[in-house]
Amino acid sequence: MERALPAPRDRSEPIFPGGPAADPAGSHHERRIRSFRPRRGRVTPGQGEALRRLWPQWGLDIDGLRRIDLGELFATEAGPRPDLPVLLEIGFGMGEATAQMAAADPGTGILAADVHTPGQGNLLALAERNGLDNVRVANGDAIILLREMLAPASLSGLRVFFPDPWPKKRHHKRRLIQPEFIELAATRLKPGALLHCATDWEPYAEQMLEVLSASPAFDNTQADGGYTPRPDFRPLTKFEGQGLDKGHLVHDLIFRRNDT
Ligand SMILES: C[S@@+](CC[C@H](N)C(=O)[O-])C[C@H]1O[C@@H](n2cnc3c(N)ncnc32)[C@H](O)[C@@H]1O
Repeated sequence: MERALPAPRDRSEPIFPGGPAADPAGSHHERRIRSFRPRRGRVTPGQGEALRRLWPQWGLDIDGLRRIDLGELFATEAGPRPDLPVLLEIGFGMGEATAQMAAADPGTGILAADVHTPGQGNLLALAERNGLDNVRVANGDAIILLREMLAPASLSGLRVFFPDPWPKKRHHKRRLIQPEFIELAATRLKPGALLHCATDWEPYAEQMLEVLSASPAFDNTQADGGYTPRPDFRPLTKFEGQGLDKGHLVHDLIFRRNDT
C-alpha cells in the first residue's frame, strides 16, 4: 500500500505561525558571503511556545525593507521610548549572557540579532521570565539590519561576542570583523559609543585588533593599544565556556567611536 508523503514545507514559511520568518530578507538583500550558517536547529517545546507567543510583541524580522524607529521598537505599555540608548548585539547564541546584561542595565535597550531559532526562543523566554522590557530579538543577517534598517548614528553601542571564528583559510572571508563591516558599523554608531568584541580564537583576535586599530573612526580604549582585560560586566557566554574548556585564551577588545 502506498503511503502519502507529507507535503514538503515551504522553506520561506515560519515554522511557528506568527513567529520568525525562515529567510526574512529573501533574495532582496542576498549576500553571497555570509558570516553564519542557517541554523534552525531543534527547538524545544518551551522555546517554541515562547516564539509563538512573544515573537509578535518582541520579535523583528530583518527583511531589509524598512527603517526602524528604535523608540517605537522598544515601546512599552507606557508608550515609545525615544530617549532610550540602544545597543546592538550580533550573534547572541542562546542569549543567556544577553539576558544577564540586559537585567543589569534596565535603562538600555538591547537589540539582539541572530539567525538561530532555538536561541531566539530561549532569549524571549528568558526576557519574560526575568521581567525584562529592554530586550528585542531580531531574526536574520545583522549586516542587513545595520545597512538597511538602522539610521545613521542611532546606536549607543555594538557587541560582538565570540563571532564564528571560521578557522579554515578559505573561510576567512566569512569572518564578521573585516574593514568593510567596521566601516558600516561606524556609520550606525553615535560618537562615544563603544564597540566591544570578544573571541577565544587567537588568530581572529589578532585580526580584530588589526582591523579596529586601522580604522580612523575608532580609538582603542586601552592606552597601550592592546586587548582589554576581561570586564566584570560581561558574563561568561556559552561559546566562551566551550573555548575555555579547550584551553583557549579569551581576548576582549573595546574601541570607542570617535567624532570623525
Ligand atoms: C559562535 S556563536 C557565539 C554565540 C554567543 N555570542 C556565545 O558566545 O555563546 C556566533 C553566533 O553568531 C551568529 N551570527 C553570525 N553571523 C551573524 C550575522 N551576520 N547576523 C546575525 N547573527 C550572526 C551565529 O548564528 C551564531 O549564533
